[in-house]
Amino acid sequence: MGRLTWFLRPVALAGLALVSSPPGLPQTSTCSDMEDFLRNGQIGAQHGIPVGVTLPSRATIEYKGAQHDAAIQTVDVFKEKRQTTHGIEMNFHDSWKYNVAGYELAKILELNMVPPYVERSVNGQKASLSWWVNDAMTDAERVKQKLEPPDLESWNKQMLATEVFHQLIYDTDANRTNLLITKDWQIWMIDFTRAFRTNKNLQEPKNLVRCDRKLLAKLRTVDKDVEQIVLAHQPIDPFPVHRPTAAVQFSGDPPPSVTGPLEGHPLDRITQINVRISA
Ligand SMILES: Nc1ncnc2c1ncn2[C@@H]1O[C@H](COP(=O)(O)OP(=O)(O)OP(=O)(O)O)[C@@H](O)[C@H]1O
Ligand SMILES: [Mg+2]
Repeated sequence: MGRLTWFLRPVALAGLALVSSPPGLPQTSTCSDMEDFLRNGQIGAQHGIPVGVTLPSRATIEYKGAQHDAAIQTVDVFKEKRQTTHGIEMNFHDSWKYNVAGYELAKILELNMVPPYVERSVNGQKASLSWWVNDAMTDAERVKQKLEPPDLESWNKQMLATEVFHQLIYDTDANRTNLLITKDWQIWMIDFTRAFRTNKNLQEPKNLVRCDRKLLAKLRTVDKDVEQIVLAHQPIDPFPVHRPTAAVQFSGDPPPSVTGPLEGHPLDRITQINVRISA
């Protein structure tokens, strides 16, 4: 089963197992059909997902006679300072909004590797709802089971694309539990709640080795679109007028090893990705 460019034209979304029992969406469904389904379907009972830190939930959605599950994420946390394994992160945000931003960004990059995420209120609380990727294992499970992908070339190409995407969105929580693998060995990226840091520099430039020609070409054409997506999905800035720098804000503290947002822009990172990969 080949991967379909479902962001480009209204074709079937074969990569995301649409037909199941009970009935799913028709094979001809597009990503906007899936967004519509997630936004407007009736949400059934929620069950906790006992994985990770922020504990999203899972629920079955019913819409126009079809059913499919969604993951519901409501986390929206801000901390001025947060201790991480890499140092202190300033102005830390963990937000469902970045899930929607990640999906929207993948869409304009025509990167068919992020399941649909939409914004929706659930029991009066704002949340992201994502299309449940059926019959998938996480990359962590794959490693644990010592499973090797059958087509290394295709696997490596996908992994390199995940690396470019994670660098672009500055995902501080990119890990194997946030990569889902379907039975046809397609990789799906999920969980961007701790991404979209505004650091100018790339997080791990050494991880950028190569990039699919199509993705690279796309990165060269998007610019203002990226800015708009990022601005449209920002958590509320607790310092809207004068966001202090770390040095001012914590003048009494020892200088933190800053990994958090002070200034900068994803566009700076796009430029760096382009330069690095083209070199
Ligand atoms: N759309 C989805 N399709 C299939 N499985 C999903 C989906 N969303 C989440 N999951 C499963 O639920 C797990 C936890 O979800 P997610 O990664 O979004 O939150 P989290 O890891 O708890 O968040 P964090 O660690 O950032 O606090 C994932 O590792 C994955 O196994
Ligand atoms: Mg996760």
